[in-house]
Amino acid sequence: MRITPVILAAGQGTRMKSDQPKVLHPVLGQPLVWYAINTMKQVTDEVPVLVIGYGAEAVKQVVGDKAHFVYQEQQLGTGHAVMQTVKMLKGKSDTILVSYADMPLLSAETFKQIIDTQSQRDGPITMLTNIADDPRGFGRVVRETDGSVQAIVEEVDATPEQLKINELNTGVYCIQADWLWSALERIPLSSKGEYFLTDLIGIAVEDGFPVQAVTTTDPVEVIGINTRAHLAEATMQMQQRINHAWMLDGVTIVDPRNTYIEVGVTIGSDTIIWPNTYLRGDTIIGQACTIGPNTFIHDTQVGDHCKVFTSVLEQAVLEGEVEIGPFGRLRPGAHLAQGVQMGNFGEVKNSYLGPGTKMGHFSYLGDATLGPNVNIGAGTITCNYDGKNKYPTEIGEKAFIGSDTMLVAPVKIGEGAHTGAGSVVTKDVPPNMLAVGMPARKIRKLE
Ligand code: UD1
Ligand code: MG
Repeated sequence: MRITPVILAAGQGTRMKSDQPKVLHPVLGQPLVWYAINTMKQVTDEVPVLVIGYGAEAVKQVVGDKAHFVYQEQQLGTGHAVMQTVKMLKGKSDTILVSYADMPLLSAETFKQIIDTQSQRDGPITMLTNIADDPRGFGRVVRETDGSVQAIVEEVDATPEQLKINELNTGVYCIQADWLWSALERIPLSSKGEYFLTDLIGIAVEDGFPVQAVTTTDPVEVIGINTRAHLAEATMQMQQRINHAWMLDGVTIVDPRNTYIEVGVTIGSDTIIWPNTYLRGDTIIGQACTIGPNTFIHDTQVGDHCKVFTSVLEQAVLEGEVEIGPFGRLRPGAHLAQGVQMGNFGEVKNSYLGPGTKMGHFSYLGDATLGPNVNIGAGTITCNYDGKNKYPTEIGEKAFIGSDTMLVAPVKIGEGAHTGAGSVVTKDVPPNMLAVGMPARKIRKLE
């Protein structure tokens, strides 16, 4: 049985009140559409078909080659969206698995259950329903007294009696393809001027077929995002899901409600994460690290046994046993080798600090390469920028840079060299040489 996923993502998401298409709004670092596609990857090997419309180019750019695209020029409803796939899919697939791109918490297991149910029964369609006290604007599932599903009624069209129904349509359907193509032609125009996919249920019943329903009572999986409030709710649930999984994997999270770990992050066991920590993007944290509190780490690799305390790290690499903070800042290209210690108010950009190097207090290193076991005195600064260009600084093994040294790049400090406190170094210092003093003097008038 060839199963093709069709994901509807063409709507503007008017209720988001945003210039951005709804499906590009992120939940813990990934846009909604990413979740829809990623879950499908765990369900079937078929590349999903994504129906796009509003903001199509932007959506395409984000999704890349992870889906086939079908364009819905005017967004005339969910039924109309599926109609756009007929040309691409008719005769090429046995079963169509339709879902909406605004439900990031739906699990692969649930999709598999729906597919299983559809493959074992006679009817042309299986749907996922949810029993819940809060209807959230979802369509209501109308059943006969014998329990059989009769129809889905959208909230706008529901009678006061139907509005009281607590079984809701989640918007996931597994449909026999041949029947779908013919049934789509019979969807009527709704009172809202749209073609509702939900009318397929009534059409199946009209055709004399039974409609299968898989019913969940889990209110979390079926959170659909129509407003920013829903987005926050989904983010909170995703946060709990991710944190819970890491805790089961041996990570201590002191306060899971105040710890934000994005989906792409990995963390080694026995690491402890203190509150108000954000681990973002492709960050990798090693084993037995202590991270946080109040720490932000983005696209950064942290080795084993590191301590990162109240710091901001972006696109950096920390080898093992590195200590940083409080109030450290690593900018892109910072690489701290084994055992580096970086104390308060340090900033490192595009620089390599060799093993065992120490930078205790108030320093800036930019475009610098440091050997092993260098000591950077308090207040040291690489003056790497002259207003136009950036220049490199090199500091050799075991060099001792005195407090408040200004290293005016390009400049090289040899192995074992020392600089005196407050020196302004404008020329290379040979190995094992002590250089002191401040050469500042009038040179020329600036234009
Ligand atoms: C839909 C269902 C409702 C269900 C709810 C669950 C219909 C008519 N209603 O309502 O029964 O309870 O989902 O979340 O299906 N889309 C398109 N093209 C369009 C319109 C929408 O691709 O012309 C896409 C949207 O981008 C979105 C999805 O379809 O990803 C659902 O659309 P949305 O407007 O959110 O439908 P709901 O009002 O939530
Ligand atoms: Mg919706």
